[in-house]
Amino acid sequence: MTGTMNLRSRAQLLGCVLGLRSLALVLWGIPGARALDNGLAMTPTMGWLHWERFMCNTDCEEDPDSCVSEKLFMQMADLMDSEGWRDVGYEYLCIDDCWMAPQRDSKGRLQADPKRFPGGIRRLADYVHGKGLKLGIYADVGKLTCAGFPGSYGYYDIDAKTFADWGVDLLKFDGCHFDTLVDLADGYKYMSLALNRTGRSIVYSCEWPLYMMPFRKHMPNYTEVREYCNHWRNFADIYDAWQSVKSVLDWTSSNQEKIVDAAGPGGWNDPDMLVIGNFGLSWDQQITQMALWAIMAAPLFMSNDLRQISPQAKALLQDKDVIAINQDPLGKQGYRLRKEDNIEVWERPLSDFAWAVAMVNLQEIGGPRFHTISLASLGGGLACLPACLITELLPVKGKLGFYEWTSSLKLRINPTGTVLLRLDRTN
Ligand code: GLA
Repeated sequence: MTGTMNLRSRAQLLGCVLGLRSLALVLWGIPGARALDNGLAMTPTMGWLHWERFMCNTDCEEDPDSCVSEKLFMQMADLMDSEGWRDVGYEYLCIDDCWMAPQRDSKGRLQADPKRFPGGIRRLADYVHGKGLKLGIYADVGKLTCAGFPGSYGYYDIDAKTFADWGVDLLKFDGCHFDTLVDLADGYKYMSLALNRTGRSIVYSCEWPLYMMPFRKHMPNYTEVREYCNHWRNFADIYDAWQSVKSVLDWTSSNQEKIVDAAGPGGWNDPDMLVIGNFGLSWDQQITQMALWAIMAAPLFMSNDLRQISPQAKALLQDKDVIAINQDPLGKQGYRLRKEDNIEVWERPLSDFAWAVAMVNLQEIGGPRFHTISLASLGGGLACLPACLITELLPVKGKLGFYEWTSSLKLRINPTGTVLLRLDRTN
């Protein structure tokens, strides 16, 4: 098409683009780079991952209900099936670090700790598949995992084959204990190819950019990362506190010009797990995490205890309208549009010319604050042109009504809370 486009139409196009400066904002974010060609993660992966909540708890004698064991994963699988989690999209049940026995077997293969996983991973995978779910596992590009279990360095082919033989559907590949940046990059690439060679569909979840962080003068080449990984961590591990969620959002908005373009069907920036349903976030902060993870087109891996979760947190995590924003098929990541007076406005283009808009109140003193937003400022001027239907999704669901392009909207936002809106254009 481009090749045959004549000069006049090119000039017209350029004129339009220059004339509508706002269009630049709309175009910004179109993924230019090829994604890992495994047909997976066309929308951000959704599931459950044990790390933030259960960490490296291997003491099944002292703490049988919360140690990293097949029992824990089977219980979570049962609940993902019976409590509606799978039905709203949480499909991948993922094991993190500390599942392994301290040694490889006589053939050099990784093996699960025999006491904590007496049936082995293949039987667990069968169980998980029987519930209509998929199983994720964890390994490390270096000589040891972060918690000190055997690393995959020197064993990439064997490990990829072992995971495929077991019926694993996702690999989280950590980046502790590597020697050089070249080893790190080669290892991540090699494992991607090794997984593809197994012929099994395995989502490849990387932490490659994160481990380049101490060497920031070598910025990650996101075009390359995207060619090898289905998602990639950029920033420090999340923990169950507002400070942590806030630091993820800060890092993301400060670096959005480098990372937003890299996201798209098949490859996503991964701001780490959802900690909703745990101990550390207030209700408003949980809303902020859910809303902003939707705006950021983030993989949604919950790390919580599905056996003990409040009905409120469950409803938030299972909110179909918010999930629909996260999973929007256009696959463009949102970004922070502006910050003024401690209120941040984020927006994300959606399919059918719709937009998601989040307003976060970052002021931690005082009560709820009013914020007025001019609709012409959203979506590069196009979100509400000539008019739109605005629906509030969070914190309270409801249609706010039809608005014209020239109008503005006044909203009340709780401290550390977020109002999430959906704007659907009308003619
Ligand atoms: C690193 C990762 C975490 C988790 C731990 C496990 O810190 O970033 O997500 O996997 O290792 O040891």
